[in-house]
Amino acid sequence: MDDGVVLRVEGLTKDYPNGIRAVDSLDLELKRGEVFGILGPNGSGKTTTILMLLGLTEPTEGQVDILGLDPLRSPLEVKKRVAYMPDTVGFYEEMSGYENLDYTARFLGLEAEERKRRIEESMEKMGLRERMHHKVQTYSHGMRRRLGLAEVICKKPEIAILDEPTQGLDPESAAEFLELIEELKREERISILLSSHMLDQVQTVCDRVGLFSKGKLLISGTVAELSSRIMGGKYAVILKADGREIKNRLEKIEGVSRVEEREDSYFHIESEEDVRPTIVEEIIAGGGRIYELSIQRHSLDTIYRAYFKEVAHAA
Ligand SMILES: Nc1ncnc2c1ncn2[C@@H]1O[C@H](COP(=O)(O)OP(=O)(O)OP(=O)(O)O)[C@@H](O)[C@H]1O
Ligand SMILES: [Mg+2]
Repeated sequence: MDDGVVLRVEGLTKDYPNGIRAVDSLDLELKRGEVFGILGPNGSGKTTTILMLLGLTEPTEGQVDILGLDPLRSPLEVKKRVAYMPDTVGFYEEMSGYENLDYTARFLGLEAEERKRRIEESMEKMGLRERMHHKVQTYSHGMRRRLGLAEVICKKPEIAILDEPTQGLDPESAAEFLELIEELKREERISILLSSHMLDQVQTVCDRVGLFSKGKLLISGTVAELSSRIMGGKYAVILKADGREIKNRLEKIEGVSRVEEREDSYFHIESEEDVRPTIVEEIIAGGGRIYELSIQRHSLDTIYRAYFKEVAHAA
């Protein structure tokens, strides 16, 4: 594959022996150097998809091409070139963080000096240097996650596949962790596929996202593309103002699709474009006063919920 695509999936399907179709006819591409987010609620098939990409479970139907390899035929080669961080990272508890990474580095066939250099560098990057010789059983949950990412860095892979990387992290640590992931892309030039059900959280780091539901990829694209496809490119404007007939005046503005009056003179306005200048003109012209005016694009979370509401209604 030399068309800038490092991972291509066609018609991937997984039926578990209990009759559950966990993944249904999935087509997917990961481009070189991008971060792609598989987003979907619990049980939508994210982990099953990831396991098939790595050759850790066999697809019922369909193909996976990862760096030109078939993961079922070349599992070791895939393991060397693709880093995988599972949703629950398993390390040897009795060994130190350093020793755990050394185990991985030996698997890659690296010389002692190179192993030491890489491990120390990745531990440093993840803020684990001081604790690197302590046993993993003394690490907190967040430290284990960072050790997982240190392992990814240490491996210098072409692709990193991260299953729910922010799982169990407090909001601040999660944001920090996502920044580290973005660094992997920027500085190490690693192509990244990550899964999450925390849509708002990962939208900043994902170049493209795909929305999963019941084993199917329903829609994919950049956050801005999804936003305009699903929500018609709408903005949410919040206005606090007093004066006469404000609601009427707002509704007459071109580009405004909906106005809702809430408590304490707050107006929630949906619009197709940035209508703030016109709002200001209209309120002032009506002799009113403005106390607050803000605008935002709908978040991925809003888009996601609106989308699944539509899907549920259509079903
Ligand atoms: N080993 C298994 N045997 C049978 N069914 C399974 C197995 N693993 C997963 N499933 C089922 O397949 C479906 C998809 O599960 P999967 O773990 O891939 O979802 P997920 O999107 O990763 O969910 P979560 O957000 O909870 O991690 C679910 O209905 C689940 O019950
Ligand atoms: Mg999962």
